[in-house]
Amino acid sequence: MTIATHETNEAAEMARDSARDFAEKRLRPTAQEFDEHEAIPKSLYQEAAELGFMGMMFPEEFGGLGLDYTAYAMAMEELARGNAAFQVGVTVHNSLVCSGIIKFGTDEQKRRYLPKAAKAEWIGAYSLSEPGSGTDAGSLKTRAEDKGDHYLVNGTKAWVTNAGFADFFLTFVSTSPELKNKGITALLIDKGLPGFTLGKKEMKLGIKASDTRELIFQNCKVPKSALLGKVNEGFKIAMMQLDNGRISIASQAVGIAQAAFEEAVKYAKQRQQFGKAIAEFQLTQAKLAQMAMNIDAARLLTYRAAGLMSRGVKCTKEASMAKLFASQMCNKVCFDAVQIHGGNGYVREFPVERYFRDARITEIYEGTTEVQHLIIAREVLAQSGS
Ligand code: CAA
Repeated sequence: MTIATHETNEAAEMARDSARDFAEKRLRPTAQEFDEHEAIPKSLYQEAAELGFMGMMFPEEFGGLGLDYTAYAMAMEELARGNAAFQVGVTVHNSLVCSGIIKFGTDEQKRRYLPKAAKAEWIGAYSLSEPGSGTDAGSLKTRAEDKGDHYLVNGTKAWVTNAGFADFFLTFVSTSPELKNKGITALLIDKGLPGFTLGKKEMKLGIKASDTRELIFQNCKVPKSALLGKVNEGFKIAMMQLDNGRISIASQAVGIAQAAFEEAVKYAKQRQQFGKAIAEFQLTQAKLAQMAMNIDAARLLTYRAAGLMSRGVKCTKEASMAKLFASQMCNKVCFDAVQIHGGNGYVREFPVERYFRDARITEIYEGTTEVQHLIIAREVLAQSGS
């Protein structure tokens, strides 16, 4: 499965090999059990941290590996191939939350959060959506009133990955409601503040072992030191963090699809019908050929976006293209992997049943398929001039 392109590098390939080894030993064997129990022990994140996966792109002075987005994307594909529910927790922590602290945080914030985050002593969560605002993220209502030495936060956030065990929450709140998305501010809110509680754990179709909950703020006093970036500039931070995050979800989709594809190939070679292996039938072969080609295409789009991000080039369009193509590809590959398994693909004894369920979210979170189309079209039209 090695793909050497101009977008990869030696450090990235080492990170990928290390992630593959960890996934084979620690993620794949436990994925089904964690799916059934709908939880992952926090200690598994700490094990991943020992190998550097919780601070892959943090500067070394803050306990990270100082790697680039290419290394990160390649490693995250491997973690997703092992267990997508685990991978999303790692990626939210790294690319949605901590990369924002690296980019927009004060020295004090970097020193406070990053060394502990690299060790997974503290895990991050990202909170943009609300019960009434998903795709229209700029319409969020959670209010943070400036009270001099603190913000008074009231409202409910929704669909927060890692919420049950996270220690700090990159939370987007409205500081100037009259300015709509130009009145949104980013706050780093620590768990345990009076007035901050968690809602019940969501029972999901797929990635069931990841922990998703509401955050409820009732007259919660958040210190001014929680401000990330500038007041009323939070929406752009949210969007820039999603450019990073969409590369992670593209990697996740490629990883799930790769796992489903490998199972389909194995099964097609073993399963006998009409006196021969079903891999010998051309209709099976056509499916396998399409799966292989589309996984590679998605992987290359992901590497391209990661390569641009590593070089500091704005890649909103390329990140959305990678996320859109990879998530649609993942759903189709998992659909066909179930089809190749026939009835056996529809039961839990075979992992493709889980891959099929896990695939679905890749077209929903960090921007739906519909939003990715919108973003790509806007970028294409803007780049085409008048
Ligand atoms: N980088 C930098 N700036 C950006 C940007 C980007 N990628 N995208 C937008 N902006 C800026 C714009 O330039 C604009 O700035 P100006 O006002 O100075 O011109 C400002 O932000 C507002 O942008 P838009 O006018 O495009 O805003 P909009 O209200 O039309 O929204 C949208 C655009 C693309 C639909 C956006 O709301 C969006 O991405 N929605 C989807 C939200 C989403 O992905 N949610 C996922 C939740 S997180 C999650 O799923 C995590 C998890 O659990 C795993």
